[in-house]
Amino acid sequence: MRIDILSAVPSLMQSFFEHSILQRAKDKGILEIHLHNIRDYATNKHKQIDDYQFGGGAGMVMMIEPILACIEMLQQQRSYDEIIYMTPDGALLEQKTVNTLSLKENLIILCGHYKGIDERLREHIVTKELSIGSYVLSGGELPAAVLVDAIGRLIPGVLGDETSALTDSFQDKLLAPPVYTRPADYKGWKIPDILLSGNDKLIEEWRYEQSVERTRKRRPDLLEND
Ligand code: ADE
Repeated sequence: MRIDILSAVPSLMQSFFEHSILQRAKDKGILEIHLHNIRDYATNKHKQIDDYQFGGGAGMVMMIEPILACIEMLQQQRSYDEIIYMTPDGALLEQKTVNTLSLKENLIILCGHYKGIDERLREHIVTKELSIGSYVLSGGELPAAVLVDAIGRLIPGVLGDETSALTDSFQDKLLAPPVYTRPADYKGWKIPDILLSGNDKLIEEWRYEQSVERTRKRRPDLLEND
């Protein structure tokens, strides 16, 4: 899979991608992440990428030309499955969307800044708009990093334990069960006896019950039929 990220401050994401689990995926050749500085595609001599809003109002708007120049350069080299714009008014990112995106070949992710991007890019170029939560961040870089991390860890071969992504919270619309490691008794804090029983079937049943119980208490909305 290849992911191209367009940003006015790509350095914000650089370190994250170099130090997270995604670096292993890059080393193995399973995932390519390319960061592009939108300013490199500015056409005027001041390297301007944003301008005042038509109609007045505070805040700058990211211009069409530099963003489109970068996207068109990429599209000349390969076709893209989605051009995703990270924005607080996009669809709320959910595991189901992440699962779908992890099966794609080539993705572009566009990070907004200031007041956002010119609406015409959203109408004509962007194919998907995603939000990571109902709060406003100063740019789309952290949301893009969140999305790439969530996608990247689902690509086969990225996580050491191939099955562990499937047992994450949310994968079955259930939160994950509690987990424990050694020591089995920490100063009187004991782990549930069942985990020491050696009975895999009973342990699996217990984990499922714990998941359902946890979801019912903490996120009952996940149990509602959709
Ligand atoms: N850009 C700014 N805030 C955001 C959010 N909550 N989700 C996605 N992109 C954003």
